[in-house]
Amino acid sequence: GTVVVLAGGLSHEREVSLRSGRQVAEALRDEGLEVIESDVDSGLVERLDGLPGAVVFPLLHGETGEDGALREVFRLLDVPFVGSDGAACRVAFDKSIATTVVADAGLATPEQVALPHEIFRELGAQALVSALAKRIGFPMMIKPSRSGSALGCTKVATPDELPAAMVAAFAYGSVAVVETFIAGTEVAVTVIDRGDGPVALPAVEIRPDSGIYDYAARYTAGATRFLCPADLPDPVSQRCSEVALTVHRLLGLADLSRTDLIVRPDGVPVFLEVSVAPGMTETSSVPLAIEAAGWGIGETCADLARAAAR
Ligand code: DAL
Repeated sequence: GTVVVLAGGLSHEREVSLRSGRQVAEALRDEGLEVIESDVDSGLVERLDGLPGAVVFPLLHGETGEDGALREVFRLLDVPFVGSDGAACRVAFDKSIATTVVADAGLATPEQVALPHEIFRELGAQALVSALAKRIGFPMMIKPSRSGSALGCTKVATPDELPAAMVAAFAYGSVAVVETFIAGTEVAVTVIDRGDGPVALPAVEIRPDSGIYDYAARYTAGATRFLCPADLPDPVSQRCSEVALTVHRLLGLADLSRTDLIVRPDGVPVFLEVSVAPGMTETSSVPLAIEAAGWGIGETCADLARAAAR
């Protein structure tokens, strides 16, 4: 049947999603599959109703795409789709919840506190700064709990930078996470299940020229150097793969995920977050990992679509 590549949506990552969608649609067409590219709008349900046997390949990043909302709708409509189900996405997309689950399983995570906007406003920034300094320490990372592509994320080195960083995070959602900044080697590990169970692909090491893997470093060609395989000792790479597979299974994820880690100087990978609809743009790490595994992007995406349709 037809593969409906769903991209766009109304999240802050709309443009990124459209780029991911184009890449995957093209790769699937090259494999000879029939592909329709669709945005999310009031005609979507009707469009899917008119395509019996279709399978959805969601490449929506951010809210409603990655938080599981639309995947609940696909289930409601009985439309098969690639990727994790709604409940798993809800847990994975929320950094504070995902980190708690991963930490409870004994994996290394940053020390983290989740602060809703109302609490921050009612208690006041000043009242919380010294407690955060004591518990989390500087430098710290401030992030929106539910967002992607590093939007609203700030590295904070001193207490006076904290209030503005919180405001930046709250621009992208009602809960901010404050966590220890972990120094080390940034790596992304893609997990893909082409039908024989989840496999961790070679870790991609991320070296942004600016030193910070922010939105510009992610989506400007040439702004970041990727090393695949990562420049890590074999046992450390192995450990990164194990962590990504553990996260994938622990959170009940399906088909495809990408776990972002910082490898500390002592070789321990620290979990940062997991993406259930990782970027597939021409500057994203997942396509690099697929190629490093010796797989084609088209054949891999086609396998995912075919498996979902079954
Ligand atoms: N949120 C972006 C798309 C990523 O994780 O790649």
